[in-house]
Amino acid sequence: MSVLRSDWLTQGPSIPAFERALAEKLGASNAVACSSGTAALHLAMLALDLGPGDEIVTTPITFLATANCARFVGAEVRFVDVDAETGLMSVEALQAVLEDDIERNIKAVLPVHFAGQPADLPAIYELAMEYEITVVDDACHAIGSWYKDEDNRKFITGGSPHADMTVFSFHPVKHIAMGEGGAITTRVPELASRLKLYRNHGMRKDNLLRCDLALDSEGVLNPWYYEMHELGFNYRLTDIQAALGKSQLTQLDNSLEKRNKLAELYRESIAEAFPDGSVRPLAVRPKVYHAYHLFVIQIEFDKFGVERSEVMKRFRAAGIGTQVHYIPIHLQPYYANRYNLKPGDFPQSEQYYSRALSLPMYPGLTESDIFRVVEQLEQILKHNKVSV
Ligand SMILES: Cc1ncc(COP(=O)(O)O)c(C=O)c1O
Repeated sequence: MSVLRSDWLTQGPSIPAFERALAEKLGASNAVACSSGTAALHLAMLALDLGPGDEIVTTPITFLATANCARFVGAEVRFVDVDAETGLMSVEALQAVLEDDIERNIKAVLPVHFAGQPADLPAIYELAMEYEITVVDDACHAIGSWYKDEDNRKFITGGSPHADMTVFSFHPVKHIAMGEGGAITTRVPELASRLKLYRNHGMRKDNLLRCDLALDSEGVLNPWYYEMHELGFNYRLTDIQAALGKSQLTQLDNSLEKRNKLAELYRESIAEAFPDGSVRPLAVRPKVYHAYHLFVIQIEFDKFGVERSEVMKRFRAAGIGTQVHYIPIHLQPYYANRYNLKPGDFPQSEQYYSRALSLPMYPGLTESDIFRVVEQLEQILKHNKVSV
C-alpha cells in the first residue's frame, strides 16, 4: 500500500529493496529483478552476448521459454535427454553432446530444476568448466530449494557457485506470485551490470563515450543525459510488484515446508495404493530439498487400460484439476522443423511425458484433500470410476 501512496510506481526504491532481499534469502551476491522469467532468460542470453553461430543446451522437459530464449538472440538450441524417473537433465547425455561439439559452438547449458527439484548442478558445472561453457540454471520452479554436494556442503539454488546465472519466475502459479515477474542471480558483477543495462533499453549514465554531449562547461554530467551502446528492452519490474515480492519472500520457508509435508503424504498414500509401482511419484535425488512447484506422478496407463485424457476428465468431474508438464519441446513443430527432430530422438523425455500427470500442489491443500485425490486416482485407474 505504501508503494501506491509513494512517488514511485516503477523504477523506484522498491526494486533494489526486493533485489537485496532476494539476494540475501538465496545467499547470492547479486540479484537483478525483471518483468518475467522469460525476460530473465532472454536477459541472461543477452548478458552472455550469445548470437548467431552459438548454441545452448537444454532438456526437452521444460517450459518453452527455456529453449526460446536462445532463439530470441539468434542462437541455436541443442536438446539433451532427461532421466525419465526425475525429469532432470542427464549428466551423461550432456557429456556426450559436449564431447560431440568439435566446433565448440555450444556456449551455455541451461539445466532446469524441474518441478522444483535441483538438477545435479555440481556435476553439470564440472563438465561446463571442462568445456569452458557457462551454466544458466532455470530455477523458475525451484526458489528456496537446495542441495548438498559429496562433502555434504549445502548450496541454495541461485546462491551456489555451480552456476553463472540462475533464473527465477514470479508468475502467479509460482511460489512467489507478484502478477508477473522474474529475476536473475549471479555472483559475477559484470553480468549483473549487463543484465541491468539490457533490462532498461541499454540506457547508461556511466562509461560514457560522448563527454562533449554528456558534461556541462564545468565538467558535471548533464542531468538529462544518457547513452545507449547496446540494444536493450523494457523488461523492468514495477515497484508495486517488487513490494509484493518482498513481502511474499518472508512466507517462502513456510510455504516450502507445507509443500514438502503434502508431498510426503502423497508419496505415502500412493505407495500404499499402488504397491507395485505402476503409479509412482517422480524420484527424488539424494541430499536435495525440493521446492515442489509441481507434484508429478508417473502412471503406467497401458497397465490400467485407460488413456490419460480420460483420467483427467474423470478427475475434472470430481472437481480436481490435473495437468501435464510438459510436452517435450523437441516435438513442438517449431523445433521439430528447425532441427529435423522426431519422436524417438529423446526416449527418456518421451517416456517421462507418456506417463506424466501433475496432481494438485499448493500450500492451501489439506491432508484430507491429498487423501481424496489419491482415492479418486485409485477409483479411476482400478475401478474405472469416479466416487462422489
Ligand atoms: C521452467 C520455466 N522456465 C521459464 C518460465 C517462464 O517464466 P514466466 O512465465 O515468468 O515468463 C516458466 C514459466 O512457466 C517455467 O516453468
